[in-house]
Amino acid sequence: MDAIQKIKGFADILPPESGAFVRLENQARRIFGLYGYKEARLPILERTELFARSIGEETDVVQKEMYTFPDRKGRSLTMRPEATAGVVRAYVENGLHAREELTKLFCAGPMFRYERPQKGRMRQFHQINVEALGSSSPLLDAEVIFMLAQFLTELGIADLNFELNSLGCPECRPAYLAALNEYFRGFDAGSLCEDCMRRKLTNPLRVLDCKAPGCRELTRTAPLIADYQCPACREHFDAVRGLLDADGFAYTINPRLVRGLDYYTRTTFEVTSGKIGAQSAVAGGGRYDGLVKALGGPDLPAIGFACGMERLAMLMPDGEPQAPDFFLAAMGEASLNSGLLLTQRLRREGFCGECALAGKSAKSQMRQAAKSGARFCLIVGDAELEAGTAQVKNMVTGVQESVGQADLTQYLRK
Ligand code: HAM
Repeated sequence: MDAIQKIKGFADILPPESGAFVRLENQARRIFGLYGYKEARLPILERTELFARSIGEETDVVQKEMYTFPDRKGRSLTMRPEATAGVVRAYVENGLHAREELTKLFCAGPMFRYERPQKGRMRQFHQINVEALGSSSPLLDAEVIFMLAQFLTELGIADLNFELNSLGCPECRPAYLAALNEYFRGFDAGSLCEDCMRRKLTNPLRVLDCKAPGCRELTRTAPLIADYQCPACREHFDAVRGLLDADGFAYTINPRLVRGLDYYTRTTFEVTSGKIGAQSAVAGGGRYDGLVKALGGPDLPAIGFACGMERLAMLMPDGEPQAPDFFLAAMGEASLNSGLLLTQRLRREGFCGECALAGKSAKSQMRQAAKSGARFCLIVGDAELEAGTAQVKNMVTGVQESVGQADLTQYLRK
């Protein structure tokens, strides 16, 4: 029969590669825990409207990348393309804002975007996502950026670029959009790509985000948001930058950093690496001060970011392989059962090891022991069973000696 294959853009993440994902999640729990974040586990499926309303109708994600389908009752559902919308929905739906002034949540898991797969770009990918809801303080912006940097540094990932921008707020954004409109008005069909001819009317910020070389060239001299910011936005951004500068934190200002999702206000940031090819963004985020209200909650500000786990895994140094403590070789059928029981005793004491499951030749079991990478091979045969001992072979030095089964714990520990 034909074997069934996985879907394009989806991956099986198997050992040893899966180890990097485990380390990423453990590190996230540890570092984000230091800053008071708690883990949330949220649904992968949400109503389509949630993403249309938060990410924005005119974004690539909502226009062309969502896995959307009707359920059996005809309701439109979408596999989450990102986590922020779901976190905000849960925050509002569960009234978390009434419980605490500042809610700090992180989550990790799969996201789905129907993009063209390439190195570092999958249709099912994984994010570690962080959100802090309830404060507009620029101190929180700096804290979130410091936390992301600490997380990445302690993963052993170096040479990353932090880029920062401020996207203004509903006070000052309209004047900037009007200036962009005015600037783009001069470009007729054929100068911008087909998508951008539409975007320049519906959502001109997205034109700045377009990767098409023609659009990039034409937007080089476009007006900059920095020149249109209201005093409150400027003060906020200056305060964030002041904190980063005071810490000696290295970053660059990228006035074209508009991000691909519509909910952002004020501070936005992206972290890129020069070592993983065209898909160089390993993390991105920013403030989204209007989203809680837009999703039916109170008018509360928030900020967050997400890291792409596949991209971080490419940059992480290899983890130390965990060698088992022992392999138990059973010489003769009679020793198999006792071998398993002895193995069980040692595992309950915290040792990691395997035992032979079928009566194989001594040579074959010794080969198995060597292949497992175990530090010790325990050999149990009729004579050892009788004497209540085991032959213990140190797989590194080759030294072999007889050890009482009762003394094994101490012997393996030393
Ligand atoms: P985003 O920039 O769309 O932001 O995605 C964050 C990160 O997810 C990217 O920097 C990248 O590393 C990874 N990523 C995105 N798409 C793919 C893909 N197709 N394959 C592999 N990795 C990918 C967000 O999703 C926002 N929700 C972040 C945020 C949280 N903003 C505020 N809070």
